[in-house]
Amino acid sequence: MKVLVATEKPFSTAAVAGIKEIIEGAGYQFATLEKYTDTGELITAVADVDALIIRTDKITAEVLNAAKNLKIVVRAGAGYDNIDLAAATARKIVVMNTPGQNSNGVAELTIAMMIFMARNQFTPATGSELEGKRLGIQAFGNVGRLVGKKAEAMGMKVTAIDPFIPAEKIREAGVEPAESAEQMYSSCMYISIHMPATPETIGSIGYDLIVKMPKGACLINAARKEVIDEAGLEKALDEREDLKYITDVAPDNYEVLKEKFGTRIFATPKKMGAQTAEANLNAGLAAARQIVDFFATGNTRFQVNK
Ligand code: 3PG
Repeated sequence: MKVLVATEKPFSTAAVAGIKEIIEGAGYQFATLEKYTDTGELITAVADVDALIIRTDKITAEVLNAAKNLKIVVRAGAGYDNIDLAAATARKIVVMNTPGQNSNGVAELTIAMMIFMARNQFTPATGSELEGKRLGIQAFGNVGRLVGKKAEAMGMKVTAIDPFIPAEKIREAGVEPAESAEQMYSSCMYISIHMPATPETIGSIGYDLIVKMPKGACLINAARKEVIDEAGLEKALDEREDLKYITDVAPDNYEVLKEKFGTRIFATPKKMGAQTAEANLNAGLAAARQIVDFFATGNTRFQVNK
């Protein structure tokens, strides 16, 4: 049985060593493909593997079809929009994620992004403080909840909305449920997006919502760039010279936006929310354990293509 860790953006050395120990400890063969630059390398590497551990690596039907022995893919992380689930299901390949394992890293980055924008990207211009400001959290899952706790600890007022979580559950978590996305965008100086990229959410944050934000407000996206309607974002930033946007993965038209909006916009050069030693270890080891458990007991608890 061969397990391949295929990560274009590699895990820390300690995380890879930990994964190796778990895989080899179970008597399986361990292999890595890191920092690859071409899908062809991935296609060649998967030819003889039984299990695959990945991050945001694109697992297309072509990759899956090249992996004749593949039985399980574990996305070491939360979002699995990078995997062709239909193609995996058609081949009876189990796909899992490791929910919650890297959430704290993403939540801490979200707080850092808020402060960075409140202080004008660390330029000498007079900034503002987060205490007393209202933060709206769009999607109250593992990351959204942690962001809420950390923001509250800094004295922010926190509101949240989630189509899958009833208002009373949000209230039970000590956070005020928003009446609607429109109401939340209208009343929050900061909005932080934490929803997955799905057919329902892709392109769902656009001009109509962004332009509702109060004077001087900032939109934070540590989720996926696809959830933003980029033309709508540009229109809102064009019309409203007070609005700001920060994102953990550049929009397609980032160079144009940066040129136009200067310190009102910022994108990390590479997705870095989960790029911490702790998140790498938590998600990587969980992925390895889930694979060993799947082969040993058939456990499919974290399967996302059931
Ligand atoms: C996730 O979905 O878990 C995060 O976006 C992190 O992705 P990464 O493992 O590619 O950094």
